[in-house]
This record gives sequence, C-alpha cells and structure tokens, in this order.
Amino acid sequence: MKILAFESSCDETAVAVVEDGRKVLSDAIASQADLHALYGGVVPEIASRKHVEAIAALTEKALADAGCTRADIDAVAVTYAPGLIGAVLVGLSFAKSVAYGLGVPLIPVHHIRGHIAANYLAFPELEPPFLALAISGGNTLIVDVRDYTDMVILGATRDDAAGECFDKAARVLGLPYPGGAPMDKLAQQSVGGVYQLPHAHVDGAPLDMSFSGLKTAVVNLAHHAEQVGEELDRAALARDFAQAVSDTLVPRAMEALRQTGYKTMAAAGGVAANSVIRGDLERACGKAGCKLYLPPLKLCGDNGAMIGAQGYYEYLAGNAASMDLNAYATRDIAE
Ligand code: KG4
Repeated sequence: MKILAFESSCDETAVAVVEDGRKVLSDAIASQADLHALYGGVVPEIASRKHVEAIAALTEKALADAGCTRADIDAVAVTYAPGLIGAVLVGLSFAKSVAYGLGVPLIPVHHIRGHIAANYLAFPELEPPFLALAISGGNTLIVDVRDYTDMVILGATRDDAAGECFDKAARVLGLPYPGGAPMDKLAQQSVGGVYQLPHAHVDGAPLDMSFSGLKTAVVNLAHHAEQVGEELDRAALARDFAQAVSDTLVPRAMEALRQTGYKTMAAAGGVAANSVIRGDLERACGKAGCKLYLPPLKLCGDNGAMIGAQGYYEYLAGNAASMDLNAYATRDIAE
C-alpha cells in the first residue's frame, strides 16, 4: 500500500511516499529554517505562507522521486495536530483536496505519533509494545506505546519543551535558530562541570518534567555576565545545559521503562539528535539490559516519511477521516 504523506506542523514542508508503513520511496523536504533564523524563532504567519508556496511543487517532487504516478497512491496521510494552527491547516487542506481528487482515504496522523513511527522506518524489527521518549521543539513526552495506535502518556513537561529550551538557550549564547544542533556542536568542545544549573522536579508526579527554570537560569547567567563584563565559557555552558536536560530526561525514561516492565525503548523527535542525550540513553539502557533504538539524525527532525509510516498503521486500525477533519494546535497523543 502506497501512502502519500504530508507534514506542515512547523517550519518544514514535507511530502513523502511510504510503502506499507516501513519503506520510504521518497521524502521531499523544504525547510524554512533560514527565513525564521532572521527573527530568532518561527514566525507562524511566515510559516503558513511558505507552506502554501512550497506544497504543490513538493508533492510533484515526492511523486517523481518515488517513481509514482497519482494512480499509484492508495491513501493520503496528513499531520492534523499538534502544531502551529495556520501551518497545520495548510497541509491538512492540501491533503484533503488531494485525497478527494484521487478518491482515496484521508488518514489523520498525530505529529508525535509520527515522530515515534520514524523508528519503524529505520528499524524493521521494531514492533510495539515499547517505551518512547519523544523530545522535539514543541513536545516532551514519555509514552507507553502499547500498540501502533494505542498510546498512553506516562510523563510530560509541565511548561517548555526540551527543544524550545535548547533554542532559547542557544539564542542567548549568540547561536543561530534552530539552536539545538549548534549548541550540541559547541558543547562537544567542553567537558563541562563549570555552571550549576537547576534540575526541577514536579511534586507528586515523578515522571513529569519542567524546563522553564533551566531556560531562565541560562538567560539570567548570560545577561548577568554581559552586565558585569564577565566572559562566559560558552562551550562549558552549552555542555552543562545539555547535561541538565539529559539528567531530567534519561532517569525519568528509565523509571518509566522499569514501571512498564518493557525491555525496549525508542527515542524520537529533533532533540533525540543530541549527542549528550544519546550517549546517556545508551549507557543507561546498556546498564539496564534494555534494547535502545535511536533513529538516524535525518529521521529525528520533522519529515513526511514518518507521517506515512504512522498513517499506514492508522489506516489498518480503521482511522480514516472524513472531509470535515479539523486541524488542532494541541491534541493528546492518546486521542
Ligand atoms: O522534531 P523537530 O524537528 O520539530 C518539532 O516537531 O518540534 O524538533 C526541532 C527541535 C528544535 O528545537 C531543535 O533545536 C532541536 O529539535 N534539535 C536539537 C538538536 N537537533 C535539533 N536539540 C538538541 N540537540 C540537537 N543535536
């Protein structure tokens, strides 16, 4: 079954063709990151407009790269939530018109379910149940993946997402948007241990997380240094920051693994590209005797193939939508 998949929830327009949920036939992406870098973050209005400009040509490219014609497409999958509402609406409206025009089913895909499904593309042997650590620019979740379309949130951030926190910390260090990857590169130049950064705990919810205090601490540190004319050890701060994020994520993910009794964990989302977090997860899972799946870097960030992968399993579960399907800025992964 060939699925034409659309992703437009943030600043990447992405269209892919995926076969039977596991095989990527094409994966076309038009990133707007350079445009938003001018403003130090995503400007929703610009994101929506750029999706409109890119999506039709990108669809032609995805079909051509896959060696497909329109007649080969069996279904259309699309991110319908969560994300920047105008941006999601562009992809959703386009996908609806394609599904209607081709006379094929329209399959709604939750963006974070898609991130988790990126692992199915990289690891053919991976099947639920397993624990997923989904860490991206807008979401930070520990998820019990009971089955392909049956998921329960075990832990979540109460405020900022880990990626948002990386991006804001990077900005005060003078790094370009999106800041996660440059912060990671900078952090690799230091062993850290210079800056004491806060590690928050949520009372009564040991698997929940909070990153806003950490973000504020880095902003305050940078502003204070500037005001008193002190030079920051930027590499050490980047390293200590990544360690603080990892120290928040990894022990909670391991505790969730223990609670579920699973022996398999998969990481997902843009922040899963981080070298400190990947290293810490590898060590912790090795120690616990668990199998860890870390998707290749190009499948960590937003892409259309992951939507096609999850779309296949949503289709098998009977989750097709009608033409009145709406877009949502926020939506529980379990819905
Ligand atoms: O999954 P993604 O592409 O988009 C969302 O669905 O949100 O994640 C983007 C986030 C950005 O915040 C970006 O800075 C972060 O992932 N990111 C990283 C790294 N590469 C990307 N964060 C930390 N370390 C990295 N190497």
